[in-house]
Amino acid sequence: MVQSARHFESFEPHTLLKHAILRAYEERWARVLLVRTGSPRRRVRIVDACAGAGQDESGNPGSPLISIHEAEKAREQLSTMRGEPVEVQVVAIEKDRARFAQLSQLVQEFHGRHTAHCGTLGDYIARLEPDFGNTPTLFFIDPFGMEPLQAEVVHRALGGPQNEVLLLFADQAALRHIGAAAAVEVADDPVLSLFGGEEAAQPPMPSKELKLTADAAIRIMTAAFGDERWRRVMSLAPERRRQALVDLYGELLKSMGARHVLSLPMIGKGSRLKYHLMFATRSGKGYEVMKDSVERAWNGELVADKAVQMMRMGVAAPSTVIAQSIRTHFAGRRVAWTGDRSTDSVRVYALQETAAMPHQLEEIKQLLAPLRVPGERAFVYDFRQVR
Ligand SMILES: C[S@@+](CC[C@H](N)C(=O)[O-])C[C@H]1O[C@@H](n2cnc3c(N)ncnc32)[C@H](O)[C@@H]1O
Repeated sequence: MVQSARHFESFEPHTLLKHAILRAYEERWARVLLVRTGSPRRRVRIVDACAGAGQDESGNPGSPLISIHEAEKAREQLSTMRGEPVEVQVVAIEKDRARFAQLSQLVQEFHGRHTAHCGTLGDYIARLEPDFGNTPTLFFIDPFGMEPLQAEVVHRALGGPQNEVLLLFADQAALRHIGAAAAVEVADDPVLSLFGGEEAAQPPMPSKELKLTADAAIRIMTAAFGDERWRRVMSLAPERRRQALVDLYGELLKSMGARHVLSLPMIGKGSRLKYHLMFATRSGKGYEVMKDSVERAWNGELVADKAVQMMRMGVAAPSTVIAQSIRTHFAGRRVAWTGDRSTDSVRVYALQETAAMPHQLEEIKQLLAPLRVPGERAFVYDFRQVR
């Protein structure tokens, strides 16, 4: 049985980890955006674009129910704090009719505060776009495989000034598509015989089946990347292709307006890399909150320690490189570790403007050699000699 058919039997540990990241992010996200009393902003929205059935067969909540529970908690708490009603709305979209029917029953219990739709994000995005200006929207796009990932739709999702996207990039499926496309191209290439042109060997014709698979692969990859840039990866050695695809997709998200992209390798049973979770945002604060959410999920003992170690290694840039970029950025200045903004705090700058993950902060601190200010308790970082 294919993996996707078993997905809703009982969520696997890497799925529970993905859910923990989503939950931790949503918990903070709605509060950051709606906490200010008197702010004209009264609504935020979560769009779960590949929502599934709502839960697995053991009753573990799936992403739409997790989002709804977080939304309900945030709405109640923030409405009380602000003394005025705020909305935290979930829009769940599912293509499969049977899963949609299950999902829709679960969503109905929330008296119309959240909605479920049968179809794809491409079918519904035009209805969401008019609200983008006053409704920061977090898109969670969690497909099986690459097919539902359409560059044109992801670009539109990132169109709102405060919109963000958390998506599953199925790099294993992308690699398979590249292999299928490459197989027919090799067969299509004229193969010259060792003895020169006239005796050119005839390449075997690709079978009809191979050709159909390749055509589908090319169509899916071109829709996912918006053009044929993915073909560049075909010329790389097989062991370099996977990371190259993730990097290329990260660049694509940046070209769609994201200032920051966090690419998180998700490791499953047997230490196998399952896919990458990719987060795209314009906001330094959003980037910091997502890193923090990932750390909290890693610390939740949902997957083996070894898997967490591999994910930490896979996502982090070397601390020495980050420390050097901090020195260069603050050259000529003396700066505190803590503060509110990335302009006056080394810590906030590291988390919001560099690839540093929270678990690297202690090491980065030591590399930057803090100084105690005479007569004060605070530590500062002196970059006045840096050129
Ligand atoms: C990995 S499952 C989603 C699981 C769910 N997000 C969760 O965490 O509980 C992927 C779902 O996307 C649905 N799907 C596939 N293509 C889709 C598309 N183009 N638009 C919306 N849903 C799609 C599948 O039917 C499946 O239910």
